[in-house]
Amino acid sequence: MSNQNELSRRDLIAKTAVAGAAMAVPSFVFAGSQAQIKVGLIGCGGRGTGAAQDNIEADSSTVLWAMGDVFPDRLNGSRDGLKKLGDRYKVTDDRAFSGWDAYKKVIESGVDVVILTTPPAFRPMHLKAAIAAGKHVFMEKPVATDAPGIRSVMESSDIAASKKLSIVAGTQRRHDFAYRGAMERIHNGDIGDVVALYAYWNQGGLWMNPRQEGWSDMEWQLRNWLYFAWLSGDHITEQHVHNLDVCNWAMKGHPVKATSLGGRQVRTDKAYGHIFDHFATEYEYANGVKMLSMCRQIDGTASRVSEHIVGSKGTSNAQSIKAAKAWRFEGDRTNPYVQEHKHLIASIKEGKPINEGRQVAESTLTAIMGRMSAYTGQEVTWEQALNSTESLIPANLGFTALETPAVAIPGKTTLK
Ligand SMILES: NC(=O)c1ccc[n+]([C@@H]2O[C@H](COP(=O)([O-])OP(=O)(O)OC[C@H]3O[C@@H](n4cnc5c(N)ncnc54)[C@H](O)[C@@H]3O)[C@@H](O)[C@H]2O)c1
Repeated sequence: MSNQNELSRRDLIAKTAVAGAAMAVPSFVFAGSQAQIKVGLIGCGGRGTGAAQDNIEADSSTVLWAMGDVFPDRLNGSRDGLKKLGDRYKVTDDRAFSGWDAYKKVIESGVDVVILTTPPAFRPMHLKAAIAAGKHVFMEKPVATDAPGIRSVMESSDIAASKKLSIVAGTQRRHDFAYRGAMERIHNGDIGDVVALYAYWNQGGLWMNPRQEGWSDMEWQLRNWLYFAWLSGDHITEQHVHNLDVCNWAMKGHPVKATSLGGRQVRTDKAYGHIFDHFATEYEYANGVKMLSMCRQIDGTASRVSEHIVGSKGTSNAQSIKAAKAWRFEGDRTNPYVQEHKHLIASIKEGKPINEGRQVAESTLTAIMGRMSAYTGQEVTWEQALNSTESLIPANLGFTALETPAVAIPGKTTLK
């Protein structure tokens, strides 16, 4: 797990019991005859297990129907944990799947909604299959690790829109009432014109699973997916996408170019794959406004995870406003990890699809553009990033030999 839920979880069983008792049978367009929304989980790790609980907590009409993971031990560990959902847990042995095609079997198991929480490398493939099968989707960020993946997610999102399917992304700040309130005010001009933005995800190192006897290269990489760019996108993509997404939200668009530096100064052992441990990027938006971005995963260094937006008449930390019209959120700031599922399920019931697919694809590409610039040491434009033909995903997925890519060297690594 790269980043566990940041907010404390209330007692799920007590909450769902209360919610169930209080629930009146809704009249919704969804599936007319059935008041039950069947949810399938694909990728049963830390976040997937958490997202399944959040979904159940969000709405009393959902049930967890099927689960799938490439590894049986991850599937079974998550199943054990989720049994506490009581009668909302409906995953029978014949609807619990492992292996590379587990995602297909979950999609075919009769579910209405799928939760996609594998490492991001597989998101484009899983989203495409889910949308083709007519399923609503909750998908974790980031949503790809390379440009072909981004283009695929954009295409699937457009198909989802034409099919009136909902796609909610795990950029939970977009569902947090404090962020939403601040952003509404920024867009209304309460801090004047936005003149500069700052985005940070600086922290220590994350978990690593030492290699075990008998693991193929593929198994080792999958169980240490954070450290391989094909799987995670590097940490600028895997974690920092949250902060970049907030800045894009404030700007109502994506940057047009990036100049980035970075390297691998401390986490140099091969146990940590080939990714960098720090990046700093200057992004520029179409109107010339710049965003400074930093991210670091180095133990013993100062932590900072935040966004700052500077306007001509005030400033914002994206959750409150410091200006003549100052504002701070007051009230019940629902756990955004639950709120994002409330928004998803409400959109399905009301027949008013939410589609965050393109938005999260653009924020993911913002991160990838920064990585491309840091790896090559060159300025990279949005068009270059979006049109890159470099596919990082191995052509054949199987438990086989798989080389660790060389660490990128700015000035030598080229943009493809
Ligand atoms: N929004 C947030 O705050 C937040 C927090 C944590 C993680 N995440 C995101 O959630 C995703 C999962 O992260 P995690 O921390 O749960 O990782 P994890 O390693 O705990 O879980 C990933 C799971 O996916 C499984 N998996 C890998 N490849 C698969 C495949 N091809 N088919 C099926 N299953 C496969 C793994 O076996 C594992 O069980 C990542 O994209 C991560 O960035 C988001």
